[in-house]
Amino acid sequence: MKCPIHLSALAFSCKISNLHLKKEKIQKRGKMVLFLLMIACLCIYLLYLQRRKQGLPPGNLGLPFIGETLQLVSAYKTDNPEPFIDARVRRYGSLFTTHVFGEPTVFSTDPEANRFVLQNEGKLFESSYPSSISNLLGRHSLLLMKGNLHKRMHSLTMSFANSSIIRDHLLVDIDRLVRFNLQRWDGLILLQDETKKITFELTVKQLMSFDPGEWTESLRKEYLLLIEGFFSVPIPFFFTTYGRALQARTKVAAALRERVRERKERRKERKGEEEKDMLGALLDEGEGGFSEEEAVDFLLALLVAGYETTSTIMTLAVKFLTETPSALALLKEEHEGIRAKKKESDALDWSDYKSMPFTQCVINETLRVANIISGVFRRAVSDVHIKGYTIPKGWKVFASFRAVHLDQDLYKDARTFNPWRWQNNPPPSSPGNIYTPFGGGPRLCPGYELARVEISVFLHHLVTGFSWFPAEKDRLVFFPTTRTLKRYPIQVRRRKMP
Ligand code: HEM
Repeated sequence: MKCPIHLSALAFSCKISNLHLKKEKIQKRGKMVLFLLMIACLCIYLLYLQRRKQGLPPGNLGLPFIGETLQLVSAYKTDNPEPFIDARVRRYGSLFTTHVFGEPTVFSTDPEANRFVLQNEGKLFESSYPSSISNLLGRHSLLLMKGNLHKRMHSLTMSFANSSIIRDHLLVDIDRLVRFNLQRWDGLILLQDETKKITFELTVKQLMSFDPGEWTESLRKEYLLLIEGFFSVPIPFFFTTYGRALQARTKVAAALRERVRERKERRKERKGEEEKDMLGALLDEGEGGFSEEEAVDFLLALLVAGYETTSTIMTLAVKFLTETPSALALLKEEHEGIRAKKKESDALDWSDYKSMPFTQCVINETLRVANIISGVFRRAVSDVHIKGYTIPKGWKVFASFRAVHLDQDLYKDARTFNPWRWQNNPPPSSPGNIYTPFGGGPRLCPGYELARVEISVFLHHLVTGFSWFPAEKDRLVFFPTTRTLKRYPIQVRRRKMP
């Protein structure tokens, strides 16, 4: 048997050895952290060496793992994100290397390089979205399609939204639905929310010939949750924004699937009297080809693509016009001239749309200054030589439209809203143009004309039907999307029935 002295000596020596163990553990952890730091530094150094060897553009990869993401995000959360790009262009030139959103990336602020990237989509580059985005869009969406299927579906989408289809079929509904929404406006409104409602209803009508009602409203509620997912941290638990977005996606897809089935049934019965909408075009094209799932993903992505973009441009055009009274006065004059030749209840027709030159200047300038899609990510599919540099296979490139559109050497007073600058300029779609709010090449936005018509009709009914003033001071932010911080609250007053 051990005596108490022995026991306490034992306990004491145990404590000492415990202390030793703890100390050893701390030392081990310290060594591990040091080791990891050394590995991270080594990786950065190797990347740096590799970059020099491979002829990448100069730049800075920033901190291990997070790179320069925090600098970019904090710049884009202000109403003046330009210093992030300006500082790097000054230091490294119009093409520079950075590390954002988890990957080293070549950032292009050069119009020629951007054009090269856009035109070589599917050859030297391909569009690239993280899997968190693909899961929300669905793998059969046009934005994720590649190769021949993409070509076929892109031209189908273009043909559904081309000028003659808009003129002959879509314009009448655009006019009707814009008026229908504006009729209810009175007093305080959040313009960003109202324009979103308009573009959602327009898109549902164009895709599936559905008028606003209970079904579209319940779809819209789920759809809003889905949209939030695109701008959230992609953690897929049921209580996170992203998790709720995935659940909403399932519900939206189920609702769309029901419509696709219904339409298929009706087509069998009616034969030849189908609605002239995107779903009809899809089912025509799809005879024996498209599955229900493909049609659903396709419709869902179109609903996403045209909604946030067009509604934000509507809102920002109003904001910029409010802040530039002389431009608003000229716009009013243009639209009152058109209205004066028509009865109050007459819908706008194609010739009215074609006689809105200053409106087009306002839209061009809003797109230029706001840059809803500030640029596009692409991945190099092989080593690409561009402007004396080499972008290695697998690297990401960000073609920044924003940097070009706000470049002081390319546009006089580039950072000022000045719609008159477009009055005597060649049309923005002319070849060689550096103005690319709708992208370019094989992925050129198929909704570019539709968006313009929708915005023009909206501005027409707004300026001829209402007067307004800002209810609060509001400002622009650019992360996670371009928007006004307070959804642009305004007080509206009816001038006459829109
Ligand atoms: C002001 C409004 C809009 C802006 C600024 C805009 C901008 C863009 C841009 C820059 C792209 C190219 C993306 C890339 O190259 O990766 C694009 C693609 C696309 N847009 Fe738009 N868009 C607008 C409205 C619309 C509308 C109304 C529709 C509805 C038809 C639409 C449907 C699409 C689709 C489906 C794509 C993907 C094309 C593809 O990947 O082949 N957009 N848009």
